[in-house]
Amino acid sequence: MKIGIDNIGFYTSNLFLDMAKLAKKRNEDPNKYLIGIGQEKMAVIPKTQDIVTLGANAASQIVTDDLMDEIDLVIVGTESGMDNSKSAAAYIANLLGLKNSIRTFEIKQACYGATAGLQMAKDYIQIHPDKKALVIGADIAKYGLKTKGEPTQGGGAVAMLVSANPKLLAFDGDSTYYAEDVMDFWRPLGYSEAKVDGKFSTNVYLDFLSHVYADYQDTYGAKLTDFASFAFHLPYTKQGLKAIKFLIQNEPEEVQASYLNKFEASRKYNKIVGNLYTGSLYLSLLSLLENADFLKENDKIGLYSYGSGAQGEFFAMKLVEGFQSVLTGKTKNLLAKREEISVEEYEKIYQSTLNYRDNEVFDVTEDHARYVLAKIDDTKRIYIKQF
Ligand code: COA
Repeated sequence: MKIGIDNIGFYTSNLFLDMAKLAKKRNEDPNKYLIGIGQEKMAVIPKTQDIVTLGANAASQIVTDDLMDEIDLVIVGTESGMDNSKSAAAYIANLLGLKNSIRTFEIKQACYGATAGLQMAKDYIQIHPDKKALVIGADIAKYGLKTKGEPTQGGGAVAMLVSANPKLLAFDGDSTYYAEDVMDFWRPLGYSEAKVDGKFSTNVYLDFLSHVYADYQDTYGAKLTDFASFAFHLPYTKQGLKAIKFLIQNEPEEVQASYLNKFEASRKYNKIVGNLYTGSLYLSLLSLLENADFLKENDKIGLYSYGSGAQGEFFAMKLVEGFQSVLTGKTKNLLAKREEISVEEYEKIYQSTLNYRDNEVFDVTEDHARYVLAKIDDTKRIYIKQF
């Protein structure tokens, strides 16, 4: 029995910042952000969106009425949790109108959370093939204004429906993983911005890739050309460029050129959204699927997941027959319809999201998303469905 991803939904806010304009304000050469870091636009998440609304808005792209009775597991991977106790999954299941005979919980391991959820959902469907699981990676990447990490911010959510006989991608059954206690990126309780040892974290990312990829090659006798293409965790897209260059380093020149060319499709969306932590790998996967013209049925895609702290995993998924029918172009439309804001507006929104006052009521008239955060009522977050 094949198990895999039946459908993928994505959501980010309708606001973005132009990276060249941010570079100028920060007295940097725009090419440092555009080429050196590999980011062209950055999603700016307003106060009316958090991981619950981002996750629910992403999930609403794929959760149709006929799935209401079949989904009985909702897992949210996030490192932007807004409650130390209640999970975002509990809110999201309710907002989507899912049934109550369901399991809902949240997972944390930096940017690895959605992969942990996906692997857990795969195992669950293996023994409950008549059920479906909803796995969401939702985050808002925050390093602080005028920090080195600032151009690698962003936010959004990816929602994946995991099922037997999937319409999009099937797990290949192969996976290798590696963990170590490393201080490359962390966010202590009470802090709204991440702490990061930037250069070190980019090296640990590559070091873990070398561990899991070598292990994968040894364990499964795999070679690079078994893969039609790759998708990587992309905290910023230059990191993925370093990853693909690492994988292809011993290949002939024409093979290297071909994989470098294919990599461009996998970073197209991430370049104009920025970092969404747990969801980044899966936005890269969606970007590859929606923008590559070379993919065909049974092609194998290699996925590298990395979460600081740190956990790495390399696994493969295969495109199933008719996969093109699932790719509706909704993401392309969503990204094309966004509105540019100035650096000043971005800074204002940024500052406003650092603190949420108790009994604060939010102006939702400018936020046209289906799900929005409307107010904080005696410390309780109140969400509404707008349409
Ligand atoms: N034109 C083209 N490239 C340029 C450039 C220009 N004018 N100016 C600089 N660059 C290149 C640099 O050579 C460098 O490339 P390299 O990484 O291949 O060496 C890159 O741009 C970044 O420049 P650098 O001076 O190293 O930037 P920085 O000190 O501001 O830090 C990060 C960059 C990525 C380390 C920082 O943004 C950060 O900490 N981000 C968060 C890290 C993160 O996401 N970690 C999680 C990993 S999972």
